[in-house]
Amino acid sequence: MTNEKNMKKIAAEHAAKYVQDGMRIGLGTGSTAYYAILKIGEMVRGGLNIQAVATSEASERLAVEQGISLTPVQHMDRLDLTIDGADELDDRLRLIKGGGGALLREKITAYQSDRLVIVADEVKQVTQLGAFPLPVEIVPFAYEWTVQSLARLGCSVQIRRNLSEGFYVTDNGNYIADCKFQLITHPEELSMRLGSIPGVVEHGLFIGMADQAIIGCQDGTVRIL
Ligand code: 5RP
Repeated sequence: MTNEKNMKKIAAEHAAKYVQDGMRIGLGTGSTAYYAILKIGEMVRGGLNIQAVATSEASERLAVEQGISLTPVQHMDRLDLTIDGADELDDRLRLIKGGGGALLREKITAYQSDRLVIVADEVKQVTQLGAFPLPVEIVPFAYEWTVQSLARLGCSVQIRRNLSEGFYVTDNGNYIADCKFQLITHPEELSMRLGSIPGVVEHGLFIGMADQAIIGCQDGTVRIL
């Protein structure tokens, strides 16, 4: 039996094997993507040559610490591969992301990538999305109204807070509304409805974006979806 950290590490290190010389790579955010960045850093220090973009300031700092130099996005057209985590995924590779607050940069990066590989521990794989509160990035202006609009979709909404009890502010200067639906029966429809609310910058439903998921399992193996 392997623990949660190891499941994440096994999945992330498996995904890092897809990184090849000359590739343009998107670096994800979170405790699973962390292991992918460590592994890629090791490969770079061993002579691998890549161009990379990070999906958060935290991943940017980690990448630089690991010796991965980051390339300004204007110098790259598409990315070959992005490796990122998820908070939930179903067997159709529909995802909830944003638990780490980086969903906007993650979605922009995923959209620009030829291949999005998700790395996760097996607890994240679900039959239906929704137990994990769906993170929605919203602008601070009139956020109370945006929260009301979100609640009308049938969820309970919490604005994410810091340990210091102030509102959590994303790398883009926005708030995160965590929307608890319990069960998301029609993710595609919900995605469209969320996208039509003024004040919503982006939401954490990633549909039709992931190409593959690598799941680290308790028995120490990986499951590929
Ligand atoms: C950050 C994310 C993360 O990928 C997601 O929260 C999973 O994180 P972890 O690997 O720490 O469980 O979407 O915004």
